[in-house]
Amino acid sequence: MARKLAVIGAGLMGSGIAQVSAQAGWDVVLRDITDEALSRGMDGIKASYDKFVSKGKLAEADAEAALGRITTTTELEAVADADVVVEAVFEKIEVKQEIFRALDGLAKDGAVLASNTSAIPITKIAAVTERPESVVGTHFFSPVPMMALCELVRGYKTSDETLASAREFAESTGKTCIVVNRDVAGFVTTRLISALVVEAVKLHESGVATAEDIDTACRLGFGHAMGPLATADLTGVDILLHATGNIYTESQDEKFAPPESMRRMVDAGDIGRKSGQGFYRH
Ligand SMILES: NC(=O)c1ccc[n+]([C@@H]2O[C@H](COP(=O)([O-])OP(=O)(O)OC[C@H]3O[C@@H](n4cnc5c(N)ncnc54)[C@H](O)[C@@H]3O)[C@@H](O)[C@H]2O)c1
Repeated sequence: MARKLAVIGAGLMGSGIAQVSAQAGWDVVLRDITDEALSRGMDGIKASYDKFVSKGKLAEADAEAALGRITTTTELEAVADADVVVEAVFEKIEVKQEIFRALDGLAKDGAVLASNTSAIPITKIAAVTERPESVVGTHFFSPVPMMALCELVRGYKTSDETLASAREFAESTGKTCIVVNRDVAGFVTTRLISALVVEAVKLHESGVATAEDIDTACRLGFGHAMGPLATADLTGVDILLHATGNIYTESQDEKFAPPESMRRMVDAGDIGRKSGQGFYRH
């Protein structure tokens, strides 16, 4: 019998996780708070399957079968028979805690309760439940169908069994996992990109090198697909400012202190691709 997955949040990440999981044979129920959000999510999934089909990377029949395995709902009660629940709502601790409090009362015993948070400590999410041993981080990357990594994050009380089940789930969707053994703020990936972006911004603001040259150094010198400043423009300078600020607040480590020019860019609205201007003009 197909295993059951519930995904909470049909945004960019939730719909991507639903998409790759249905393709891997999971029966997926996708939950959001409005029908509009669910329609947007499903439209994105269909468009993505169509793209894979038109490129010859997915058979049309397999795409149709995968779509047939996804149902949508606005009712949280639909998580009741899920083996794995993945939460992918806004990056706000109060919103996530409210969902996990409810999941604790609704999900079946032994279900894996996972969060796709990119930086919130899993322990803080798990603490609102009576089963912190079942809570784990499954941090997928955007766009989910293309990015091969899943960062598994242990909370303070996450059990070995939960971690193993989360790994099994992520690997079933074709991802390679890394394990973060202690849920330090920013985990491994957000810490690494934050440290790199902060240093790149400092080099840029002090006139040591242009944005183009800093990015070229990382691309051609280190084989990065994209330089840190181009990455900041793509992700959103505001998002990275928020991430580095949180890591700095929690760690008090100066290397994560957001540089002044980054704060001023955000104040001025130059937040990257979505505003047309960041470190580059778009
Ligand atoms: N966007 C990225 O590149 C990226 C990468 C890795 C991890 N993340 C993390 O994934 C999570 C989701 O990010 P996203 O980019 O998909 O956000 P998004 O804004 O695209 O989607 C969030 C969705 O959650 C829904 N939602 C809000 N409250 C809800 C609730 N109570 N129940 C059900 N649905 C609810 C919203 O309606 C929306 O559809 C965040 O924690 C984010 O930090 C994002």
